[in-house]
Amino acid sequence: MNVKMADLRGQYEEIAPEIDEAIRSVLSHAAFIRGREVEEFESALADYLNVPHVLGVANGTDALQIAMMALGVGPGDEIITSAFTFIATAEAAALLGATPVFADIDPRTFNIDPACIEALITPRTRAIIPVHLFGQPADMAPIMELAQRRGLPVIEDNAQAIGAKYQGAPTGSIGHVGCLSFFPTKNLGCYGDGGALSTRDAALNKKVRMVSNHGGERKYYNEIVGVNSRLDTIQAAILQVKLRRLDENHARRRRAAERYDALFADHPCIAIPHRAPDRTHVYHQYALRISEDLPGKRDGLAAYLKTRRIPHAIYYPAPLHRLPVFAGSGCRRGPLDETEKASREALSLPMHPLLTEREQEFLASEILGYCDRVLRDGDTG
Ligand SMILES: Cc1ncc(COP(=O)(O)O)c(C=O)c1O
Repeated sequence: MNVKMADLRGQYEEIAPEIDEAIRSVLSHAAFIRGREVEEFESALADYLNVPHVLGVANGTDALQIAMMALGVGPGDEIITSAFTFIATAEAAALLGATPVFADIDPRTFNIDPACIEALITPRTRAIIPVHLFGQPADMAPIMELAQRRGLPVIEDNAQAIGAKYQGAPTGSIGHVGCLSFFPTKNLGCYGDGGALSTRDAALNKKVRMVSNHGGERKYYNEIVGVNSRLDTIQAAILQVKLRRLDENHARRRRAAERYDALFADHPCIAIPHRAPDRTHVYHQYALRISEDLPGKRDGLAAYLKTRRIPHAIYYPAPLHRLPVFAGSGCRRGPLDETEKASREALSLPMHPLLTEREQEFLASEILGYCDRVLRDGDTG
């Protein structure tokens, strides 16, 4: 059975006439940069996120870098984030000469553990960056309380969780600024690269706009060092169409997650994703935990799935502090036991709005069949 990890082609085909028309319209007016669709999309996304300001940029990594530049993160500064994330979160800080400092995660949600942050704060700390990993919000209330008490800004890495809610508030509307990615496989993905920043703060909005536009508000009048980072008009036009269907697609992802939950419930070596009660999960990824008690462990299962050509992914096989880029750099960190364990146990399964019950039953029978076999016979690989 040919199951797809994200099925970008199928997702396009569902809405092809609307997408084709949106692209044709941009081709006909030819305002490829700063066309009207960019502002329209920014405004629609601001409504969706319940914030007054959204700025489209070239990708999610740029969004993080621009947020940090606007907040004055620079050489010698530190930012506190999780090491169980995609490299971009810490890389953007390092590019600016700042040092990422890694706090451990809550093993239930894979997100930064608020209780691990305060001990890492020093006079050089310039920001806290929770990542809403796999589509579930980090525990924002204690993070915001701590940030306020210590006078630190919070940058939400919202690349994986657009549309998720924490105590009723959309992610990206809770911290000082939120950063989105529209990488094609994201829940709101465009057909190339794209990203955005969201904020409630008018002054910060002004600053991020300036930074993203070569450091100037007016053409040929540059006030600070900035970058060139824009969401182009064709991507904005595509995103306008896709944003209208985002909630419906999240409901489809949730239904698929519930079906997986039922299929994998109660297995002694498999834990289904925890859903924190005060949050909604938009299932950018559906990540199982494969217990280290399973003979051959997670990697044995992944190797088996690979031989069977069954799609799966390991996010993330190495936590950031173990990657060559940071391992030798003396990055500060707290104890990272849960981070290490998660990188040994997490296994992501195909997840997208078109996933069918039959496909999920097939995946589950392969995975459960393998697990039961190795539990009975031991790891033969
Ligand atoms: C958690 C996280 N942060 C940042 C990014 C960077 O986004 P982009 O690939 O659009 O630069 C991604 C996605 O790739 C991500 O998953």
